[in-house]
Amino acid sequence: MPQFFVSCPKGMVEPLEQELKDLGLKPYDRSQNGVFFDSNWRDCYRVNLRSRFASRVLMPVLNFVAYQPEELYNQILNHDFTKYIKPDQTLTIDASTKDSMLKDQRFIAMKVKDAIVDQFRDKFGVRPNIDNDRPDLAVYVKTYKNRFSVAIDTSGDSLFMRGYRLESGDAPMKENLAAGLLQLAEWDGKTPIVDPMCGSGTILIEAAMKLMNIAPGSNRKSFGFMKLQNYDRDMWSEVLDEALDEELPDCGDIHFYGYDIDKRVLMKAIENAKRAGVNEFIKFKREEIMSLTAPIEKGVIITNPPYGARLGDEDNLKDVYRDFSHTLKNQFKGWNAWILSGNKELIGDLKLKSSRKHFVYNGSIECRFLKYEMR
Ligand SMILES: C[S@@+](CC[C@H](N)C(=O)[O-])C[C@H]1O[C@@H](n2cnc3c(N)ncnc32)[C@H](O)[C@@H]1O
Repeated sequence: MPQFFVSCPKGMVEPLEQELKDLGLKPYDRSQNGVFFDSNWRDCYRVNLRSRFASRVLMPVLNFVAYQPEELYNQILNHDFTKYIKPDQTLTIDASTKDSMLKDQRFIAMKVKDAIVDQFRDKFGVRPNIDNDRPDLAVYVKTYKNRFSVAIDTSGDSLFMRGYRLESGDAPMKENLAAGLLQLAEWDGKTPIVDPMCGSGTILIEAAMKLMNIAPGSNRKSFGFMKLQNYDRDMWSEVLDEALDEELPDCGDIHFYGYDIDKRVLMKAIENAKRAGVNEFIKFKREEIMSLTAPIEKGVIITNPPYGARLGDEDNLKDVYRDFSHTLKNQFKGWNAWILSGNKELIGDLKLKSSRKHFVYNGSIECRFLKYEMR
């Protein structure tokens, strides 16, 4: 039975593990940035299609210790890579290394590539070409303390790329992180959500997709597993049809509300929501945080205000956080607000006391995801 490793943003391992269990899988181990399960290829297709939190699904194929280049080369020869693609297909190696004798990731990638293409040359007399942009086979090599883990990618483009977001704001949030925040906030799927600084609308779009049971990958045209020799087109059609059959026609009575100061970014949010098939259920409106009032009596705020790392300068942002705090206290009494921020000082400018805290990563930025109960 093949083993798979599902990677996810740091801080999202628990929601991912639960999600895999909900898909009927039995995860048997986890690391800081992902979860292992063993099952068949059908389940690999299902996870690629249905996981809201995964970044990619890898199939680990080798695990060994090597100190010298020849050892690395010979270890790679222990696995038959010619079964995955044909010699006229393309290949890329993604290597990383830490605390190891072999310190140069480009050198590791080259050695692994040599060992793989030599297998093809010996067997077929020809070898696959390298394509780092759109390879048919991506091999991931991770080296830590001289231990190499080698895995085959089954996802292709990272799974946060659902296909609906062609347009983004200046500091968009990855779709799988947005979905993960809904889970960490324990959103019940019944309470309306307001995102007062919604940017390209990712949090609200992910919420509406979840409510309508839209499989996150159902908009995508391709996955890595489609390029592999064992790709079973009929099985994929069944897996996709099953997911499409489970989609609901609407969000029921629940609506979502997105606001932003930037009209341009809201246009993008609307286009994204249309592509995701959820625009009917999200009301987007231009509004500054200082003049925002609650659009409904009861809901929850989930938002990702600017935090300086990529957008705006800190002095301006201090004013934004102070205004946000004022609006929360005066317009959203009785609401809970979940706020993601990568800037501790700015969060301090809210001058509110959080009742829950999660640490998550937005790309490489360590963020806090905090709950505030507005009394
Ligand atoms: C980090 S981005 C949000 C990204 C969003 N989660 C997404 O997926 O694209 C923060 C947003 O806050 C908006 N913003 C900044 N100052 C604001 C203010 N005073 N009132 C309302 N929105 C504001 C920005 O225009 C930006 O789109």
